[in-house]
Amino acid sequence: MTDKLFLTTINGEKSNQTPIWIMRQAGRHLKEYRAIRKIQKDFISFCLNPEQASTVSLQPITRYNLDAAIIFSDILLVPWAMDLNVKFKTGIGPLLDPVDTPDMIDANCLHNLTRKLAPVGEAIKITKLSLPAETALIGFAGAPWTLITYIAEGGSSRDFTRARLWAWQNAKELDSLLEILIDATISFLSLQATAGAECLMLFDSWASAVPAAHRNWLITKPTNTIIQGVRKNGHKQPIIGFPKGFGDGVIHYAEESGVDAVGLDHGIDPGWAGKNLPKNLPVQGNLDPLSLISAGKEMFRDIDYILESFHNRPHVFNLGHGITPPTPIENVQMMIDYIRNG
Ligand code: CP3
Repeated sequence: MTDKLFLTTINGEKSNQTPIWIMRQAGRHLKEYRAIRKIQKDFISFCLNPEQASTVSLQPITRYNLDAAIIFSDILLVPWAMDLNVKFKTGIGPLLDPVDTPDMIDANCLHNLTRKLAPVGEAIKITKLSLPAETALIGFAGAPWTLITYIAEGGSSRDFTRARLWAWQNAKELDSLLEILIDATISFLSLQATAGAECLMLFDSWASAVPAAHRNWLITKPTNTIIQGVRKNGHKQPIIGFPKGFGDGVIHYAEESGVDAVGLDHGIDPGWAGKNLPKNLPVQGNLDPLSLISAGKEMFRDIDYILESFHNRPHVFNLGHGITPPTPIENVQMMIDYIRNG
């Protein structure tokens, strides 16, 4: 049906070319991104400006000719659309209104969600008009647990104390909040699929913070419910799950969550993952983003190890987490050339 290398690979077909894209590719390591960023009033209205969001989504494709674009947006648009007063402060990061207990949020806050997030759909439609025919477009959302960490802490956090305390002390209320966030995520992903996203990715960036005893409740089951909800809405796009820092939990996740492909962070040994993940499961990852800063022989050795470890299954090359702002673009180009041409 499709001849986009990224999509055939994520859909389970192995080919002799390894597709590649880069998490946070539309971002601060590109000077053309920084130029547009500089003239924005604030980060949220930047994300919700379809023309500008589309322009920066296309920048890394124009520069590197990657196999997939990801729509420029943010996982915190969902709490923003739930009226949690999300702001991005330069030098600090995201800030949200304080929430003492999970039951302070009720389902009424979902009323305007799809209306408020409609500009992301617009951005997807516009972007598709300009993408090269062989480039796929990815839509995404944050997974509920990761959103809970930002909601509980009122921003970024080092050790996620409040979110973890909620899990132990406010389990019943947290369960209701999970349900609300699951509904919100199904709506947001469905909106993006309807607009034309060809693949969906669920970022569970702080899966690492969940105690092993709670992994199923807080990570794997919500992911499964979201996927069922998206499917019930009629969307057939492949879904990539990225439970960052989940360690050996990724095996149970791959078997039980219903994702079509698993994103691996750089804490996972590709040799281990290649042997232990379900046979033929498509994987994405997992070069340490910091190896790109110097791009020495260690980086090329690591790329070889990753490619070798996944040569028996469909594999999309990516970093293990987002590319960092100081990464030199020449190094990115070297990495891409090496993967494509050896
Ligand atoms: O190119 C792409 O990957 C698309 C864009 C994208 C952004 N955020 C834009 C962005 C994606 C996929 C995200 C996801 C996201 N956002 C995650 C999950 C992925 C991950 O990194 O684990 C998370 C946890 C967030 C939340 C978030 N957004 C934080 C904590 C911050 C501030 C920290 C920082 O790096 O400044 C953001 C801001 C953000 N989102 C930026 C970009 C390009 C940088 C802000 C800027 O340009 O001023």
